[in-house]
Amino acid sequence: MSAGILGMGKFVPERVLTNFDLEKMMDTSDEWIRTRTGIEARHIADDTVDTSDMAFAAAQNAIKNAGLTIDDIDMILVATITPDQPFPSIACMLQDRLGARHIPAMDISAACSGFIYGVVTAKQFVDTKAYEHILVVGVEKLSKITDWKDRATAVLFGDGAAAAVVGPVSEGKGILSYELGADGSGGKSLYQEGSLIRMNGREVFKFAVRQMGESAVNVVEKAGLTKDDIDYLIPHQANIRIMEASRERLGIPEEKMIKTIQKYGNTSASSIPLALADSLENGLIKDGDVLVMVGFGGGLTWGALTIRW
Ligand code: ACO
Repeated sequence: MSAGILGMGKFVPERVLTNFDLEKMMDTSDEWIRTRTGIEARHIADDTVDTSDMAFAAAQNAIKNAGLTIDDIDMILVATITPDQPFPSIACMLQDRLGARHIPAMDISAACSGFIYGVVTAKQFVDTKAYEHILVVGVEKLSKITDWKDRATAVLFGDGAAAAVVGPVSEGKGILSYELGADGSGGKSLYQEGSLIRMNGREVFKFAVRQMGESAVNVVEKAGLTKDDIDYLIPHQANIRIMEASRERLGIPEEKMIKTIQKYGNTSASSIPLALADSLENGLIKDGDVLVMVGFGGGLTWGALTIRW
């Protein structure tokens, strides 16, 4: 027995904000955004939809797709930096709204690495048999902390949610290796000041290129795999140039990198699980495929894992 993902679910708000829409709101251009970041559009939640609403929808889908009911869930972990409020946590709100038993529930704050942190935390409980099925949600409503007057950050972010049920899978499948890390000295490169995101784009870019490549290579080695064993790389969808750098470092061809940044932008903790949920929905990922997921984010934090589907 090992720990793996039994089912995924997602939710994105209906409203799409394109680069052309942004051109009307600030001094920017579709051409600049596309060539510098790879982003063409992002989904933005309106005032009636908060983080917990998106988390709820994604969680329901994940439980259903795992072939389970809420009574089977033993713990709830929610990765987010944009909760409805500092407390109660989104995880506790979800526990109530989903009608779960009085199971443990907590939020994880690791910015864009949050989903990887959540899945790796869940794995420990599954491995020790403390809990069998753990709901892990990555969710953000970044639009509510976006500084719409700062064109250098406003064009990057989007809203969305995706959830996984982590539980026991047959030997040889599931999570094969992982790596988590943090460097708090880099906190000033990417943080929230008052109610708004602040970022030193170039610093974050340099860190991300170095760390994403390194962590991806490390987890492949730890799993005893080579680049030829990798079916898909699912990097944090922050910037296509950062994603490409990690793909090149792994030495795998372009078609093996999953890319959803063009339609969702950077959705922080939900970016990796959204890309995974999308790829399952469109039949890209097959039974037995080896996936490498790697992310980085505010903290600074990073995390990577390999999984055999
Ligand atoms: N439209 C047009 N021009 C712009 C825009 C814009 N939206 N934003 C910046 N510019 C201008 C700048 O003012 C600058 O002009 P200047 O040369 O006259 O001063 C020029 O474009 C170049 O700016 P740079 O910042 O050097 O552009 P760069 O190529 O570094 O790209 C970017 C900026 C896209 C932000 C890049 O640095 C990046 O992606 N960094 C990483 C960001 C990231 O991944 N953050 C993760 C956040 S995840 C989380 O934890 C929430």
